[in-house]
Amino acid sequence: MDAENLYQEAITTFRALLDDATRAGDPEPTATTLSTVRANGRVASRMVLLKAVDERGFAFYTNYQSAKAEQIAAHPQAALCFLWKTLRGGSGVQVRVEGNIELTTATESDAYFASRARDSQIGAWASAQSQTLPSREAFYERIAEFEKKFEGGPVPRPPHWGGYRLVPDLIEFWYGQRARLHERDRYELRDGRWSKRMLYP
Ligand SMILES: Cc1cc2nc3c(=O)[nH]c(=O)nc-3n(C[C@H](O)[C@H](O)[C@H](O)COP(=O)(O)O)c2cc1C
Repeated sequence: MDAENLYQEAITTFRALLDDATRAGDPEPTATTLSTVRANGRVASRMVLLKAVDERGFAFYTNYQSAKAEQIAAHPQAALCFLWKTLRGGSGVQVRVEGNIELTTATESDAYFASRARDSQIGAWASAQSQTLPSREAFYERIAEFEKKFEGGPVPRPPHWGGYRLVPDLIEFWYGQRARLHERDRYELRDGRWSKRMLYP
């Protein structure tokens, strides 16, 4: 298989597993751990929801003034880690993705923001994500403020809210097997060419 088709194979495999996990009743199949690096080199992880995946990469949405955004600005690289425990008869499948991070286009961010529930849209305006919140009331007041501001009309996308896309240079599938004979398939981009190899589990 040539190098470009290997990348297609990895993306197709990812999508098929995500579909399988969804069908198998995984409670949050798009949930993934996102790891980023602080300016001082220390790693930070948190969950996000994957909102799109295709040959361009893996897209998620967040606040562009959050701690993670600050970290991405300092180091535009990240890692994702998915776990679908319901697959392979309960032994699970893990997918690790690493690569560079870029912004989604404003058009993409607008389209996704417009598809969100109104409460979530208001929340994106009201939440100064990762900043100190003096009291819950302060947050409720901001929600009420933006509900009033946008009353009777559409909620536009806040300028500080949008997407990132992780452009992969590594995708690894870990398939759980009985008796610990787990399988690992690693796809890697090196010197502009994708390769695939197995790893000891
Ligand atoms: C299951 C789950 C999904 C989440 N999805 C998102 C998401 O898609 N975008 C987001 O900004 N935060 C999401 N969060 C909240 C983040 O984990 C995190 O608390 C927030 O983004 C602030 O992180 P930061 O301070 O490192 O920037 C999610 C949390 C959980 C538990």
